[in-house]
Amino acid sequence: MGHDKIRQFEREDLAQVIQINRTSLPENYPPYFFISIHENNPECFLVAEIEKESEKKIVGYCMCRIERGYTLIKKKGHVVSIAVIEEERQKGIGTALMKEAIKIMGDKYNVDEVFLEVRVSNPAVLLYEKLGMKATKTLTSYYRDGEDAFRMELSMKEVEKKI
Ligand code: ACO
Repeated sequence: MGHDKIRQFEREDLAQVIQINRTSLPENYPPYFFISIHENNPECFLVAEIEKESEKKIVGYCMCRIERGYTLIKKKGHVVSIAVIEEERQKGIGTALMKEAIKIMGDKYNVDEVFLEVRVSNPAVLLYEKLGMKATKTLTSYYRDGEDAFRMELSMKEVEKKI
């Protein structure tokens, strides 16, 4: 990735992350949503930063939240939102963000599994499958426009073998 780096999100990154979210996805959130996720899960809200002609720029983010299952026994890492700016896609940045987020959620937060929701038509499904994630459920009309989502999951036991 050359001069790219994956690092933790910082408050100063907020405007750039919101901009990437708004230009990449129809699922947008108010600033406090990003801030509260960051406050509660500081280590697994990541950004990808590139340096061009000594200018630093955020080109992607992966925002995750640690959750408990219904029984409160299992700890789960929820990838709430991930995006990379259009000009920098298909260069491995999304994969690098996901790999780092999965690693941190396993090592630092001790989650038993990582999961996410994704539009059934989104080619990102392929990226998640390459990381070993599996679609376990179809969530009917999950999105506002009526599209279904796949819930995709990765057991951390699988990760120890793969990543
Ligand atoms: N066309 C083809 N393949 C795609 C595409 C696409 N538009 N998007 C993702 N992929 C898959 C392919 O398998 C591809 O692998 P390949 O390069 O070997 O063909 C792989 O993903 C690309 O991997 P990366 O380069 O590591 O990923 P990238 O940096 O492009 O980021 C991301 C992927 C984040 C999904 C980016 O395409 C994006 O921002 N999309 C718009 C926002 C979005 O849909 N985010 C995911 C929503 S679900 C959620 O947030 C939990």
